[in-house]
Amino acid sequence: MPTTTTSPRMANTSDIKMLAVSDVFKGIFIVNTLLKKTDKNGRPYWEITVSDQHGNLNAKIWSDAGWWDRSTPDLELKPDMLTESHINGLKGKVVGITGKVADFRGQLQYNFNAITLLNQGKYPPTQYTAHSEIPLPVLTDRLESMIDSCRPEVRDFLKFVFDGETGLAFRDAPAAVSNHHAYAHGLLEHSLAVTDSARALADTYADIYPSLDMDVVVAGALLHDLGKIYSYSMSPIPEITLPGAVMDHIALGYAAFDKLADEAKLPPTLKLEIGHIILSHHGQKEFGSPVLPATLEALIVSISDELDFKLFCWKDAVKDLQPEQNISAYHFAAQRRFWRITAQNNADEETSRN
Ligand SMILES: [Fe+2]
Ligand SMILES: [Fe+2]
Repeated sequence: MPTTTTSPRMANTSDIKMLAVSDVFKGIFIVNTLLKKTDKNGRPYWEITVSDQHGNLNAKIWSDAGWWDRSTPDLELKPDMLTESHINGLKGKVVGITGKVADFRGQLQYNFNAITLLNQGKYPPTQYTAHSEIPLPVLTDRLESMIDSCRPEVRDFLKFVFDGETGLAFRDAPAAVSNHHAYAHGLLEHSLAVTDSARALADTYADIYPSLDMDVVVAGALLHDLGKIYSYSMSPIPEITLPGAVMDHIALGYAAFDKLADEAKLPPTLKLEIGHIILSHHGQKEFGSPVLPATLEALIVSISDELDFKLFCWKDAVKDLQPEQNISAYHFAAQRRFWRITAQNNADEETSRN
C-alpha cells in the first residue's frame, strides 16, 4: 500500500502517481498544456498537464495557488508573483511545483498549490523534454544495419533519404503528440519496431509466399510514417503543425516520398510498391488511408504498425497502475481497458483450484 508523506519530497510524474490522498510532493517539470477555466463560484482555476522523462501528469491549480517568478537571476532572492501574461506563456517552460494529492469522487486528483517559473538558462526545457528510452546511437545503428541489409537499389534510395536533411528531422521527431511514442526520437523508435516486426512476419511467411519482397517490406516499414516529420514538431514539447492538422501525415508523407523518389530516380515499380505502403498503412479508409493494403508487403507493414501502436498503448496504460491494480483506466485511443497479468492473478487462480 502507498505510504502517506506529510513533507514535500522531490518526485517525478511516475512517483506522484504512486502517492496516496493527502500526500504532498514537489517536482520540476515542463508545462505541456495550461487551460484557464472558471469554477461554479466564478473563481478562476487551471487545468495543467506537465511532463518529464517518466510521462505526463494532469493536475489542477485552484485560485488560492501561488505563482512565482524566478526566471531571471536578479529575482532569485526576492521572487515576484507571475503576471497573468507570464502565466499564459508558461507552455513549453520549465516550472517547479509543490502539490498535494486529493480525492475527487473516488479518483485521485493532483493539486498544485505553488508554481514557480524557473530560470530557463539553468533549467533548459530540452533537458526536461521526454525522449526515447533507447539511446539515439543505438537507434541509428539499428537503422543503418536495416538499410544495409537491402539490395543496392533499395539501399541507395534509403541512404539518400536518411543521410540528408530528411533523415536528421526523422531522428528527432516524435511519432505523435499523445497516444504513442510522443517524445523526441519517438518516430525513429516506432519505425524501427515496425520494421523489426514486419521483417519477422515476412520471414515467417517467406516459404508460403516466395514472391514476398523483404527489401520492399523494410523500405515501406521505415518510411510508412515519413510524413510525421512535417506533421509534428518538438517546440520543445510535441505539437501538431498546421500542415499536420489540415493534411495529416499520410498525404504529407506520400508527397515527400514522391519528390524524393523522383530525385533519386527510384525505378517506377519500386516507387509504386513503396508508395502504396505509405498510402495504405492505416489499413482502413476510415483511419485515414485512401487505399487498402493490396500487396503482401503492404498487408504485413500495416499489421505491424497497428501492433506496435497497441503494444505501446498497453505499456503506457499499465505503467502507472498501483501494485494492487491490474486493470487500467479506459484508454481512449485504443478503446479498451488493458489488463496487466501478474503473478498474483495466477496465484489466486491456483488457490481457488485447490
Ligand atoms: Fe501512420
Ligand atoms: Fe506508424
